[in-house]
Amino acid sequence: MKPISIAIDGPAAAGKSTVAKIIAAKLSYVYIDTGAMYRALTFAGQRTGVDLNNENELVEILQSINISFENTAFGQNVLINGEDVTEIIRTPEVTNEVSIVAKHRLVREEMVRRQQELGSKGGVVMDGRDIGTHVLPNAEVKIFLLASVEERAQRRHAENLSKNFPSDLVQLQREIAKRDQLDSERAVSPLRKAADAIELDTTSLSIDEVVDKIMDIAVKKL
Ligand code: C5P
Repeated sequence: MKPISIAIDGPAAAGKSTVAKIIAAKLSYVYIDTGAMYRALTFAGQRTGVDLNNENELVEILQSINISFENTAFGQNVLINGEDVTEIIRTPEVTNEVSIVAKHRLVREEMVRRQQELGSKGGVVMDGRDIGTHVLPNAEVKIFLLASVEERAQRRHAENLSKNFPSDLVQLQREIAKRDQLDSERAVSPLRKAADAIELDTTSLSIDEVVDKIMDIAVKKL
């Protein structure tokens, strides 16, 4: 069986990474979380104190950092030049500014180059916003995951509470809607369903049901 590429795109908190990780494990594929790469750069920029609207300064920082992934018994760690930033890139400070960083053309060009290199041998499940449209336009399987804003905020809220993180449902809903808007309206590779992607509305589906649907689609391409 030849290793294929699976692209999973969709709006914020649609469950992309949860299902992508499970599918990668089932197929013994590599999971690549492209959102984590934009989050890592956002964190690096904030720590350096640059204006996140300054494209050239961000590109300079990006050129000085290696963003890598490390599989662990519990999931996947994200590293900047070897430093573990897995937790800190999920804080609201990063989440609420990452779409500013992700709108820059030169930042995206370099990220896409790195992501294509990571996916060049196939055998990958990659999730993000522009995977089916720009990063892996020839992916054998393209999925566009959707769920209502209310449902996505509710899921994130439950996840926060289970981790004992402070969480405000109404605020989450506002933040998710704002991030969707910025990601969908930016000039460079906005969040779009690829013409050949299969749309899956997960609003009333369990994680297992979503995984099963994607696996059914994927096994036909193996
Ligand atoms: O997937 P996640 O929610 O972690 O992504 C964080 C942010 O990174 C998104 O809101 C978006 O601004 C940006 N992103 C992107 N293109 C991708 C992946 C993420 O613009 N392929």
